[in-house]
Amino acid sequence: MKEKIHTFKYKEYERGELPEDLQALVNTAISFAQQAYAPYSCFRVGAALELTTGEIVPGANQENAAYPSGLCAERVAAFGAAIQFPNTPFSRIAIVALPPDAPSSKPISPCGACRQVLLEYEQKFNHNIEVILASQTGKTCVFPNIKSLLPFSFDAAALSI
Ligand code: THU
Repeated sequence: MKEKIHTFKYKEYERGELPEDLQALVNTAISFAQQAYAPYSCFRVGAALELTTGEIVPGANQENAAYPSGLCAERVAAFGAAIQFPNTPFSRIAIVALPPDAPSSKPISPCGACRQVLLEYEQKFNHNIEVILASQTGKTCVFPNIKSLLPFSFDAAALSI
């Protein structure tokens, strides 16, 4: 038996420390969050998905009275990009929440299903997707790719074992 350790690096920025281009993408995600339809959770999430061409595809969570029929901001953006720009790799995604009562003080992290979906496109294009998890008043974390957020994942390669 071997005991193994898995680690990965990511960056943590204090408020005001974020490079200008990343802050601009976060601001775009905040503006997309205004388009959330979240009457049940009152928790609005915005995702700004930047493609390698510089195009920015919007995402915001869309809820439904049949709760499981709703979709997270990240998958709205990913599927939108896949339809509109089927041959363009994704380069980065900024994600931010607008909680009901006050500006977000902590970043939120994408759910497992969204990580799985984003991983598919990261692998399809063989191009890392940088992940920017932002807050409005606190820290922002930047991860180098989806794979690091979903280690030991199930992927296309597993279908041919
Ligand atoms: N949500 C997202 O859109 N993205 C996330 O990363 C986490 C959660 C949405 C789903 C639901 O509409 C609401 O936030 C509360 O879970």
